[in-house]
Amino acid sequence: MGIFQEYLEHDSNVFEDKKMLQISYVPTNGDIERIRGKGLEYEFNTPLPYRDAEINNIANALGPAFRGDGPDNILLFGLPGTGKTATIRHLGREIEVASRESEYDVNYLMLNCATVNTEYGVLSNIGNSFSENSIPFTGWPMQKVYETTVELLDEKPQTTILVLDEIDKLLYKDVEKGNSILYQIMEMNTAFEKDSHISLIGISNDTGITSVFDPRVESRFGGEKITFKNYDANQLRGILGSRTPLAFKDGTLEESVVPLCSALATQRGGDARYALNLLRVSGELVEREGTRRVTDKHVRSANEKINRDVIKDAIRGLPIQTGYALVSVYDTLKSGTTDTGKAYHTYESLVEKKACNQLTQRRFTDLVNKDLKELGIVNTRPISKGRYGRTSIISIDNETSEIVKKMREEIESR
Ligand SMILES: Nc1ncnc2c1ncn2[C@@H]1O[C@H](COP(=O)(O)OP(=O)(O)OP(=O)(O)O)[C@@H](O)[C@H]1O
Ligand SMILES: [Mg+2]
Repeated sequence: MGIFQEYLEHDSNVFEDKKMLQISYVPTNGDIERIRGKGLEYEFNTPLPYRDAEINNIANALGPAFRGDGPDNILLFGLPGTGKTATIRHLGREIEVASRESEYDVNYLMLNCATVNTEYGVLSNIGNSFSENSIPFTGWPMQKVYETTVELLDEKPQTTILVLDEIDKLLYKDVEKGNSILYQIMEMNTAFEKDSHISLIGISNDTGITSVFDPRVESRFGGEKITFKNYDANQLRGILGSRTPLAFKDGTLEESVVPLCSALATQRGGDARYALNLLRVSGELVEREGTRRVTDKHVRSANEKINRDVIKDAIRGLPIQTGYALVSVYDTLKSGTTDTGKAYHTYESLVEKKACNQLTQRRFTDLVNKDLKELGIVNTRPISKGRYGRTSIISIDNETSEIVKKMREEIESR
């Protein structure tokens, strides 16, 4: 019998349709019908509860596109997991439907600037979305890429709505280049010869990006800024409640599970992504146990597991020297003492052993107090040593300590 036989023969004990809990999945009107079809009540009139106002505001701003007018550029802000990407993807589907009925073609196109963030990448992706493989991945002079893209966008009178998700990644990678890319796209409107338009929707969880906009870019984003508020515990309960009837088999969820996931995600800043992940991982734990009822105990274990995974990923992503700084702090703590000065001594012997270059004490202290602290790997508390100046008391949570212990070889072998 093959090792996957069990998976081939049996459905999950727990999940009915696990895709409903995937982060990339945006629920549809069809899902609402499926829920109602099961004889259950669905209390909202949209697949994205609590985002009616935002959806309407954006739709009103984009509406003129269907009459052949170029809509304003829009910026969307909000903390992680507040539904920005989901809202826009939902609207993208609506745009595609409306465009089929409209006299004017309205195209919807989304790029994620975490992955596409060079001038060549952004422009060629826009062009290729109109005509596949018309611009090679690399090799053309920029001017040719630009001109081809403009031609494709202006092949007939049409409006293109370009969503730049995580637009902060584009700007912070290189503020000048980032601004220049945005400006070039906005200025395509003056290069079109037919009645074509392009407008931008920028999405970011950092409102600070407006301060790095070039004035020319800032003024073109002037019109609409829409902020997505964090969800409260009640709203998260509603959101999870709208997913569970299709995601889980009947009778598998204890009643307190959704409220607990919502409460824990509220502590995380009202992050719907976190709430959905908790629910999914809780179900997976039950699946692995071979049982069929998700309880609070599973949610709590899922919470710990997710936190551990976050810390592990953060540690895995550390640059080499920051990793050494972490190991040094860990070793120093093991011998019972806790300040940056002492940790630096440990660090000195470590880099000597490794025969790699040595950071100054000042830089080392920065790595610990800023980088490691911001990632939630260490805790630090500054204290005054009287006339000897200031130092920081460092500590590492027990749980993180266990992780560092297990990962130390991996950290040191880099
Ligand atoms: N109102 C809602 N109704 C149903 N599902 C939602 C809602 N808001 C968010 N979600 C779901 O929560 C998850 C996270 O949402 P989304 O990816 O849109 O967050 P975001 O605001 O783009 O976060 P980030 O800034 O981290 O990119 C997605 O799976 C999304 O479908
Ligand atoms: Mg997003």
